[in-house]
Order: sequence, then C-alpha cells, then structure tokens
Amino acid sequence: MTASGPAIQRATSTPRLRPPVVRTPRIVQGVQFAIFRRRAMRKWIERHGRIFEINVPIFGRSVVVSDPALVKSVCTASTEQLINVQPNLNNLFGPGSVFGFDGPRHRDRRRLLAPAFHGHSLKNYEKIIEDETLRESANWPEDKEFRALEPMNRITLNVILRTIFGTAEPGRDNLEKLREIIPPFMKLAQRMAFVPAPPSWTRRYGPWRKLDEFRNAFDRIVSTLIDRADADPGLGERSDVLASLLRSECDGTGMPRRDLCDELLTLVCAGHETTASVLAWAFERLRRNPDVLAELVRELDEGGSDFRRATIFEVLRVRSVVDVIGRRARAPGFDLGEWRIPQDRTVFVRIADLHENPEVFPHPERFDPYRFCGTRPAAPAWLAFGGGARRCIGADFTIAEIDIVLRTVLHNFAIQTDGAADEKSHFRGVAHIPKLGGRIVVNRRR
Ligand code: HEM
Repeated sequence: MTASGPAIQRATSTPRLRPPVVRTPRIVQGVQFAIFRRRAMRKWIERHGRIFEINVPIFGRSVVVSDPALVKSVCTASTEQLINVQPNLNNLFGPGSVFGFDGPRHRDRRRLLAPAFHGHSLKNYEKIIEDETLRESANWPEDKEFRALEPMNRITLNVILRTIFGTAEPGRDNLEKLREIIPPFMKLAQRMAFVPAPPSWTRRYGPWRKLDEFRNAFDRIVSTLIDRADADPGLGERSDVLASLLRSECDGTGMPRRDLCDELLTLVCAGHETTASVLAWAFERLRRNPDVLAELVRELDEGGSDFRRATIFEVLRVRSVVDVIGRRARAPGFDLGEWRIPQDRTVFVRIADLHENPEVFPHPERFDPYRFCGTRPAAPAWLAFGGGARRCIGADFTIAEIDIVLRTVLHNFAIQTDGAADEKSHFRGVAHIPKLGGRIVVNRRR
C-alpha cells in the first residue's frame, strides 16, 4: 500500500508494485491531458515507459497504455473484466445509445446496427457519396487557397443523413433542418462530451440549455421522419438505415422505440465529423507530398485503387483523428500483463502513441503509404477504429467513403503541391483536426 492506495499491483504473490505514477498535481495533469496531450504523453512515455498512471479530473486515476501487447489484452478483455469508460458519449446521445451499453445488451445492439454499415449495404451508398462530392466541389475556386475541412464536413453530413434517412420525398425539408442544426450542435457537443451532467436546474442556463434545445429540435424532426417511414408502403424496399431498423422492429428483433432517436443521433454524429477530419488531413498531407500525390493520380488514371487504400490507412495512422479510447475495470479488477488494475480504474489506450511507435512503424513521422501496400493494417499496432467488442461500427463505411471522395476529387481536380509548413493539430474535444482546416489550392482537370 502506498500513500495513494493500493492502485495497480503485480498479480503475483511477490511484493505488489505500481507502475510509474505521474506525480504532478492533478489539475496540472488535467490541463496537460486536455490541452497539451501529445506533448505530455511523449514526455510521460519517455520518463515512465508505455504503461503509467495519471490522475485527471473527470476520469480520476487512469492507467495509460500504448504497449502493443498490453493494448491487445485491453482490446480482447471480456465485459466481466472491462466495460466502457465513464463518462462516455452516451452523455450526449442519451441512455439508449450503443455507447451506454455493455455485455449482452451491447452485443445485441451492435448486431442490429452493424449490418447497415458493412458488406453489400455499402454498395447502396456509393452513388450517394459520389453525388455529394460532385455537388459540393462543383463551385470550388481555382488557383485560390481554401479550407478543405468545411466542404468535407458538408459532404460527410449529407452522406450520413441520406444513408440513415433515405432520400425519398416527403422528408427533404426535414433533412434540410437537420443540416442546419447539427453543425452548431457538434461544435458545442464535442466540448461538453465528457463533462458530467449537472443537476437538472442548472440545465436551464448556458451550454446545457443549448444542448437541450438542440435535442428537442432533433427529436421533433426525427420523430416526423420515423412516423413517415412507418407509414411508407414502400418501407420493405428501402435501403436506408432507418428503414432497416424499423423492419427489424416489425420482426421482433428490433430495439425499443424509445432508444431509436438516441441511436439515430449517435450514428449521425459519430458518422460524419471524424470522417471529414480524416479527409481534411488527407488533403493536408497530399499538398506536402508530391510523390504520393503523383502516384495516386497515376494509379487512378489507370483504373487502380490499391495505393489509394494504402494512403487512407497511412493518413489514419500518421494523424490519429481519435487519439484515445477508454475502458473501466470491473470487479474484482483486471490483470493486465503483470499488473492488476483495481476495480473502477479507467484504462486509456493511446492510439496516437501506438501509431507513432518507431519499433512498429520505422520513421513514424514520415507519410509513407508504401508501408501498407499489399497488406492490411492490423490491431493492436494500428488501431484507428479501436478494437475488440467496441470496435467502430462505421469503419468499413468510413474507408469506403474516404476512398470515393478522394477518387472523385482526384479525378476532377489537380491539387497544387508546395513546401508549406505542416499544419498543426487542433483538438476539438473528440476529434483532432488540422488547425488551418487542411488548406489546398486546386485546378480543374476536366
Ligand atoms: C474516420 C472516421 C472514424 C473514426 C476515426 C472512428 C473511430 C472510432 C473509435 C476509435 C471508436 C471507439 C472504439 C473503441 O472504443 O474501441 C468508435 C466507436 C464507434 N463509432 Fe466510429 N469512427 C469513425 C467513423 C464512424 C462512422 C462513419 C460511424 C457510423 C456510421 C461510426 C460509429 C461508431 C459507433 C456507433 C461507435 C460505438 C461502438 C460501440 O461502442 O460499440 N464511426 N469509432
């Protein structure tokens, strides 16, 4: 036992030791974790190695892991050992969101949601993605620098809305309203994502009031869309996600209706800004890497796609849009390698530090898609979408979406390259974006 409790201990009968503990005051660690995370993590890894304990507001004492073998144990742990981190994103999306479930309920919910974002369902969305990219890029200026992030955000928001709610009339005016209210919500929500909910009376003020107003507006619009889909005689033939969720409700395998709005909000929000951030990073990287860009264009003109896929995996590695995932240890604790993590302790896996590990990725700072040519990146070394039972539901969908957007842009535009300084990363609360928005200059090819 140490001054601050038994903490993490070796799971043997030998004297129980804790892994290194970061000793600065909790509030300082909190600021480092929230604002200067990358720099702080590097310093802590250098000093303590790839497992150590921090103590930060909201999450409390938390073990941070970036050793691939230990990360594998975290990803493959059962829900008797580890559950989702608290607080998590169901803070924003509501108690009926997949983020809030663990164990069998979580597994059942994923079984319901995941098929819409895998396999042959993806084919249905290809045309939507291409159409939205062409529509958004139709008026791009030539020879004039602009931020790629906002156009990418509009593309991915439109894509996810059409994928989830379909495009059939009537309902377009409702999608239009969603298009208006979601971006400001996302901006605020990311900042508030992990702030514990206050007592209900304080929700009448400030950001909580704004979040509640958004939620009421979202529920009103989405309830109308659900009612219309319910009454649609063509529901059986529709390929959108809402239709498939309503069909599963009819055959008795569906989710409770009260969870539907929470889950639709989850998919809309989780399913667009992250993808837009990766696309903005892709353009940021291509501007500064003429050889990679030339190879992409050559391959595209010859009808290939393998190098483009490798480039997407490399963007996801070299710029980790989601840099950390979290879990919480359950009773009686969790054995992680030689350490025992006590009950209720938070466990963070630092994706960015896995991706920047020079023993796994030589010269990790280099943007080098050839690392992934002829091979698929694999967990635990490459963990852009998390791992195990909670791995991102939208991973395949996202890769397909980024692929089609890049293909369409590179087919129609030449991106100018130069020696501009790398854009720094800016943390929005959930996703890391290029600080200047991924600025590019283009000319039409066709
Ligand atoms: C570049 C884009 C994306 C990135 C980097 C990303 C990353 C992640 C990560 C790291 C997790 C946590 C995994 C874990 O805890 O192990 C996650 C979970 C999740 N993502 Fe994504 N995601 C992306 C796009 C999407 C899209 C397009 C959708 C939906 C269409 C989506 C829906 C979800 C959902 C529902 C979860 C919760 C899974 C669960 O708790 O079981 N994501 N994502």
